Amino acid sequence: MRIALTLSFLLALPAYAQTATEAVAPEGATGLATEATAPVTSDTWMVAAANPLAVEAGADVLRAGGSAADAMIAVQAVLGLVEPQSSGLGGGAFLVWYDAASGEITTLDGRETAPMAATPTLFQDETGAPLGFFDAVVGGLSVGTPGTPMLLEEAHRRWGTANWSGLFDAAITLADEGFPTSLRLAKLVTEDAERLATSDATAAYFLPNGQPLQKGETLRNPAYADTLRAMAADGAAAFYSGEIAEGIVAAVRDAALPGLLSLDDLSAYQVKERDAVCAPYRGAEVCGMGPPSSGGLTVGQILGMLEPYDIAAMGPDSAEAWRLIGDASRLAFADRGRYMADSDFVPVPTAGLLNPAYLAERATLLQGDDSLPEVSAGTPPWDHAMLLADDRSIELPSTSQISIVDAAGNALSMTTTIENGFGSRVMAPGGFLLNNELTDFSFATQDDGVPIANRVEPGKRPRSSMAPTIVLRDGAPILVVGSPGGSRIIGYVAKTIVAYMDWGMDVQAAVAMPHLVNRFGTYDVEAGTSAEDLTEPLTALGYEVNARDLNSGLHAIALDENGLSGGADPRREGIAIGE
Ligand code: GLY
Repeated sequence: MRIALTLSFLLALPAYAQTATEAVAPEGATGLATEATAPVTSDTWMVAAANPLAVEAGADVLRAGGSAADAMIAVQAVLGLVEPQSSGLGGGAFLVWYDAASGEITTLDGRETAPMAATPTLFQDETGAPLGFFDAVVGGLSVGTPGTPMLLEEAHRRWGTANWSGLFDAAITLADEGFPTSLRLAKLVTEDAERLATSDATAAYFLPNGQPLQKGETLRNPAYADTLRAMAADGAAAFYSGEIAEGIVAAVRDAALPGLLSLDDLSAYQVKERDAVCAPYRGAEVCGMGPPSSGGLTVGQILGMLEPYDIAAMGPDSAEAWRLIGDASRLAFADRGRYMADSDFVPVPTAGLLNPAYLAERATLLQGDDSLPEVSAGTPPWDHAMLLADDRSIELPSTSQISIVDAAGNALSMTTTIENGFGSRVMAPGGFLLNNELTDFSFATQDDGVPIANRVEPGKRPRSSMAPTIVLRDGAPILVVGSPGGSRIIGYVAKTIVAYMDWGMDVQAAVAMPHLVNRFGTYDVEAGTSAEDLTEPLTALGYEVNARDLNSGLHAIALDENGLSGGADPRREGIAIGE
C-alpha cells in the first residue's frame, strides 16, 4: 500500500526550533516521509539536545575548542536546570563514545543502583501484592543512588580537554540570574501539580504561591547554582559525600513514603565501563548500550530480524514494512522481558541474543502475511542453564537525549534520565529532583516460582530501555542517535535508523517522521499525524491499533561526505547547532 497524500505535518515546531531549522518539505515527499524541515548542517562540530539554552551552552564549549565530553557536561548541567522534569544530577545516564583517534567505541554505565538495604519485595505490600505504579514512584522509596554526577566526571577524566570547573559556568549563571520557564515545562508542571504538591520543597519550586509555574515566568535556582559551584571546585566527590549527599539522604528518608538510600550507598557508587553491544545492519555496525540497558540488544535484535527483508523497496508508507518492523519488535521485546537485566546480578545471554543464526531463525517467523497471533521469548544460544520468567515492569516516558560530534571527530550519544516526568517528585536541598529509577525494576519477583531477571536486589541497577546509539560504517560514525520515551525509546531509535538507512531520509526527516511502535501486540500510531492513515491496513493485518501521543525526543547527527547534519525532534523544544 502506498498513501499518495502530501500532508502538512501536524506537529507544530516550537519557535526556537525554527530558528535552527529551515521549514522546507523535501521535494516529492509523500505520506510518512513528508515531515520536514531541513537539517542543520555544518563542517566541524554539532550538538543536538532538548533545550536551546542547553544546546547553546554546549555550542559555546565546542566553539572554544572543547571536546564532545566537555560539551556534554555543559549541556547536562543546563538541562538539569531548564528541563528538570527529564534529567539531572539526581538521576542516571548511559553514554556511548566514539573515539576518533583510536576508532574505538566505549560505553559508560552511570545507571542508578538500588540501596544496599533494598530487598526484592521493595515494591510489594504486606500481602505480597505489587504496589500501584504511582504509589511506588512518588516519594523516597523509588530513589536509586544517582549516577549522573560521577558519569560527568568520568567522561571528563577520559575525554575532556577543557577546564572542568568552567563547564558549569553557563548553568551557574542561568541558575543565579534566572531563565524563562519553557512552554513544555509549564505545561508539565500544570499537569502534574497534584503529585508535585506532595513534597514541600518540590511544591515551593514548581508551584510558587501554590500556583503552577507559567510559561515565560523567570525561574531561579540558587541552591542548584551552589551545588554546581561545589562540583566545579571539588568534582563529583562534592556530590557523593558531605552536605549535598546528606541533603539527598535526608530528603529521601523524610519523604512521605520514606526510602532506603544511605550515605554509604552514595559513597560506594561507581560508574562502570561496559562492553558495547554492536549489531550489523545493511553493512553498517549499530553500536549501543548493553545491560543493564536493554536498549542496544533490543534495537540490535529488531534490525537483525529486518535484515533479510527489503524494507527499502517497500517504503515508509507500506503496511507490509510496518508489519515486519512491528512483529520484529514484538519478538525482540519478548526476549527483552525474559532475559535482559543487570548482568552483574543475572547472567544475560548477550552474545546469543544477537547471534546471526538465532536472529535469522527468529526472522523466519515474520514470513507470513498477517500479524503474528502469538509472540514468546526465543531460546538464544547460551552457555548457562537458567530458567527465568517474563518480566512485569512498567515504564513511562520521560528522559532526554544529547548527541554531539566535536571538531576532532569524536562522537557522543548520551541518554540521561530521572525516569518518570519529575522523577520521584522529591527535591534535594541541592536544588535538583531525585530519580524514581527503582520503579524500572519488576515489582513482582517471580512468576509461579520462576525468578524474574529484573527483580529488585541490593546494589543492582534497574533494567533500562535507553538506547544511545552510534552507527558506524567502515569504522567511522555515520549516525549518532537516541531518544527519551520509556520502553518506546527502542522503537523510536530503530525507526530513525531504518528511515535514515533504508528510506534515505535526511536526519531531520527521519527524526520527525510520525511514529508507529509495537512492543506487546497493540500497534501504537502517532495521533494526529499521517501515521494514522495506516490504521486501516494494519487492522486488516490483524493488529489492534491505538492512536496516541508518542512523545519521543530524538536528537541525531548524521555524518557523510558533505559534513554533519543535525536533527531535533519537533515534538519537544530541542535544537541542533553546528558550525
Ligand atoms: N527510565 C527510563 C529507562 O531507563 O529506560
